[in-house]
Amino acid sequence: MKEILFLHPVGQACAFACGLFNLLTGLTRRMFNLSIHVNCGAIYYFTTLLGAGLGIIATKWAEKNSIPANMEIHEIAAMAMVLILAMGATTGLAMLTKREKRATLLKYHRWINILSIVVFCVQAITGMVQLVKLL
Ligand code: HEM
Ligand code: HEM
Repeated sequence: MKEILFLHPVGQACAFACGLFNLLTGLTRRMFNLSIHVNCGAIYYFTTLLGAGLGIIATKWAEKNSIPANMEIHEIAAMAMVLILAMGATTGLAMLTKREKRATLLKYHRWINILSIVVFCVQAITGMVQLVKLL
């Protein structure tokens, strides 16, 4: 049943692919299509948040089954990420509704989303270190 612990990392890896695609197409403006960008972005934010919930459930399950996991840094970074993702989504949606503020918001949106991908990489490293120990 230890395979259950893979659900969260695999789900987060799928979310990461969507985020990275959006970041690269946004920064380079190559193959940039706003409706694909908004949908892919929504999948990224939603799946990552849902995945965080799944991570908490998986960790509780591991504790119950006496499988030791030290997720302290991962947990703190996850809380920071929830905030970052909320800001990324807010600036993105605000750009769609307030066209006159788009130029200012674009800078924030860009840097907030770059930060979210950087923290995601930290999560992947801290998560995989624990995953290897759990197996
Ligand atoms: C709810 C989801 C999202 C919405 C509504 C949204 C909306 C937007 C809008 C309206 C633009 C400006 C497009 C234009 O100038 O015509 C933009 C640009 C951009 N977005 Fe998003 N976005 C979302 C998610 C994301 C995600 C998940 C990432 C990356 C992880 C991302 C990265 C970028 C980048 C890098 C740009 C270009 C910034 C620049 O030109 O400097 N966005 N987004
Ligand atoms: C590919 C990247 C990631 C990997 C490899 C990973 C790995 C893990 C592992 C091994 C666990 C322990 C439970 C389990 O095995 O399922 C865990 C827990 C958790 N993960 Fe991740 N994770 C990743 C990304 C993320 C991201 C992006 C977030 C947040 C947005 C997140 C939030 C959490 C939370 C909140 C927990 C529970 C921590 C606790 O309750 O102590 N993870 N993760």
